[in-house]
Amino acid sequence: MERIDLLVTGIGRLVTPPGNVPRCGQQMREVHEIMDAMVAIRAGKIVAFGTAQDVISLLANVEIVETIDVGGRLVTPGLIDPHTHLVHGGSREHELVMKRSGVSYLDILAQGGGILNTVQSTRAASEQELYDKARGSLNGMLLNGVTTVEAKSGYGLSLEAELKQLRVAKRLNETHPLDIVSTFMGAHAVPLAYKGRAEAYVDLIVNELIPKVAEEGLAEFCDVFCEQGVFSIEQSRRILLKGMACGLISKIHADEIEPLGGAELAGEIGAISAEHLLAATDKGLAAMAEHGVIPVLLPGTSFNLGLAKHARARAMIDTYALPVALATDYNPGSCPTESIQLIMMLASLNLKMTPEEILTACTINAANALGRGGEIGSIAVGKRADLAIFDAPNLAYLPYHFGINHTFAVIKNGNVIVWNRALVTDEACKKEGHDEP
Ligand code: NIG
Ligand code: FE
Repeated sequence: MERIDLLVTGIGRLVTPPGNVPRCGQQMREVHEIMDAMVAIRAGKIVAFGTAQDVISLLANVEIVETIDVGGRLVTPGLIDPHTHLVHGGSREHELVMKRSGVSYLDILAQGGGILNTVQSTRAASEQELYDKARGSLNGMLLNGVTTVEAKSGYGLSLEAELKQLRVAKRLNETHPLDIVSTFMGAHAVPLAYKGRAEAYVDLIVNELIPKVAEEGLAEFCDVFCEQGVFSIEQSRRILLKGMACGLISKIHADEIEPLGGAELAGEIGAISAEHLLAATDKGLAAMAEHGVIPVLLPGTSFNLGLAKHARARAMIDTYALPVALATDYNPGSCPTESIQLIMMLASLNLKMTPEEILTACTINAANALGRGGEIGSIAVGKRADLAIFDAPNLAYLPYHFGINHTFAVIKNGNVIVWNRALVTDEACKKEGHDEP
């Protein structure tokens, strides 16, 4: 080793899941813990980590360009949010009172509100307005310890407006230090112009939108809201198979409200992940386990919709040995929060997951839900130097002391971009000038 760009010292406790592949069932509890640790970084990647003593002896005679001392804090891999609806116009606080008085999510949508309200605001917004709003949200996520975010389209529901959303996500990925992974979700709702003609809208998605999105390289994944009154199993299958034929990997909003069979479909077509799953049947979970589909659970959404029902995380982990991942589902309707730490608390409270399972779900399993298990999601030699540094003595403290942000600092690709709870400089929020590995 000739040189270290950044040596992170003073790590009171380093906790990480091991390896690159999804951690299934009981493995989710097995995290590595090192007290009094250091991490050595070169060209944006981790080149060594371990106890301070081990790392120091490894680095004898090596030039160290910069050293930071994190003051005995807790360090984990940068958190990963694998399910968000990041780019959109407007907000929907006007629906709050209606929602709290008991009008259901699907009834609001059927009345032309909900997702369709955000479609109007998103179509009306300029690309710059969408960019500025999403950038603010991304900074909020970053300040929470998140270093990679998935972003779905699905508030355009026309060729031009879907491409506009995806172009904004692409520009954010190029200019913001966080990595943004794009998903095409033209099948998020049936637009008003196609009311009563869902099949014609599916034709448009299959014949025009998916080929164009794939041709322009604007998305890696394709997602569908497979739900009673939105897109049926047959329509979802048709859309996802077309996406796969065009090189887009399948994700699916499955069995959120009704047990339609979305989990079974995810298994059948080999989707990388299935999301929500509150109503998934045992048969559906077994199909997912058989075909290696990652369940992405969104406890903030069931919480905010006031549902008594929760995803069956314990059965997924204990009975089906699935590799559960967690995400915010950040969106203006069912879950308007950027806070992955709130999600961690809700995963403890309502999904009964342990702190170790929660960390695994927010790191290596989330990375694998985005097809990036080899690059991010654990502290390992050769991986990107993405680290979250918390003002917390141990892992359990994160979901325990709730309602506050524990993140003290964030390192992304070896650059310190949050320190002392603030963005380091405005410049730090641009990718240009950062060492890319
Ligand atoms: O994942 N379920 C469908 N889509 C989003 C909600 C989008 C919205 O309400 O604007 C979700 O919860
Ligand atoms: Fe969603």
